[in-house]
Amino acid sequence: MKISIIGGGHVGATCAFLIAQKELGDVVLVDIVEGLPHGTALDMMQSSSVEKFDKKVHGTNEFKDICDSDLVVVTAGLARKPGMTRLDLLAKNSQIIKNVTENIVKFAPNAKIIMVTNPLDVMTYLALKVSGFEENRVFGMSGVLDSARFKHFIADELDVSIDNVSALVVGSHSELMVPLPRFSSISGIPLVELLSKERINHIVERTKRGGAEIVAYLKNGSAFYAPAASAAKMVEVVVRNKKEVLPACVYLEGEYGLNSICLGVPVKIGKDGIEKIIELSLNSEERAALNESAESIKESIKSLSLLEI
Ligand code: NAI
Ligand code: 2OP
Repeated sequence: MKISIIGGGHVGATCAFLIAQKELGDVVLVDIVEGLPHGTALDMMQSSSVEKFDKKVHGTNEFKDICDSDLVVVTAGLARKPGMTRLDLLAKNSQIIKNVTENIVKFAPNAKIIMVTNPLDVMTYLALKVSGFEENRVFGMSGVLDSARFKHFIADELDVSIDNVSALVVGSHSELMVPLPRFSSISGIPLVELLSKERINHIVERTKRGGAEIVAYLKNGSAFYAPAASAAKMVEVVVRNKKEVLPACVYLEGEYGLNSICLGVPVKIGKDGIEKIIELSLNSEERAALNESAESIKESIKSLSLLEI
C-alpha cells in the first residue's frame, strides 16, 4: 500500500507517524513549506529502530511523488483559530482543496481520498465534485473523531473502561453535529439507562463543542492527536479491509431524505472505501437535528458557487 498525506502540519504529520508505527503502508508526506515534510519524515524514520517499523516515510514538496497512491489523506489547509468558525475557513481552504484534488486526479487517479480539512463536509463535497471519482472513493473523517470525544466523555462520567463504550455522532462536523444517546451503550446497556437526562445533555453539549474547547486552550491551533488517530483508524480499516461500521462524511443521494450533499452517517468501510450507507430509524427529534445540520451544509455548498470555486 502507498498512502499519501497532503499537508504535513499537526494532523498530517501525526497521522503519518501513526500509519508508519502501525505499518499500514509506505507514506508520502507532501507540504508546500520548503523543508518541513523532509525534516518531519527524516525525524520519523530515525525513530524506526526504536519503534520497530519497516515502512518508509518520504517527505516532499512535489505532488508527483504521490503517483499511484492507493489512499490519499488530505489535511492541507488552515486550521481554525480562536473566534473562527469552521465555516470561516471555507473561502481559504476551498481554493487549496480544489488545487490539491486536481493534483490527486493527475498523479493518483485510482486513489481513495479521505478528507480531513475543514469545513469538513463542504471540503469532502468539493473533492468529490472536482475529482469526478466514484462516491465510494471520496469520504471525510469527522464522525470517528466526534464519536471518540463523545465516548471519552461518557467513559469519564461513568468511570468505566473506554473499551466498554459504544457511541455514535452523525451530521455535520460543526456545532450542529448530532450525538445520538439512543444509539450509544455501555457493554450493551443503553446509555439512557445509566445516566440522567441532564448528564446526557451536558455530555452531548460538550461533545458538540469538543473542537472549540481545545482551540480555546491551545489558542494558536486546533486539536491534532485525536483527529490524527481518527484519520489513521479510517486508513487502517481500508488497508486491512476490515468492513467496520463507522460514522463518515459521505455523499447522500436519497438516504435520510437528503440529496446532493456530503454529511456524516454510519457506513461500512472496507478496501473499496464506502461499501454501504446504513440508514438508522431516527425519531422526530433526531431527524429534525440531522435536517438542521444538513441545511447549514447546503448553505455552505451554495456559497462555493458564489466564490466561483
Ligand atoms: P496545520 O496548519 O498544522 O497544517 C496544515 C498544513 O497544510 C501546513 O503545514 C501547510 O503548509 C499545509 N498546506 C497548506 N496548503 C497546502 C497545499 N496546497 N498543499 C500541501 N500542503 C499545504 O493544521 P492542522 O492542525 O494539521 O489542521 C489541518 C486541517 O485539518 C485544518 O483545516 C483543520 O481545521 C482540519 N481538521 C479537521 C478535523 C476533522 O475532524 N475533520 C480535525 C482537526 C483538524
Ligand atoms: C476539531 O474538531 C478543529 O475540526 C477540528 O478539533
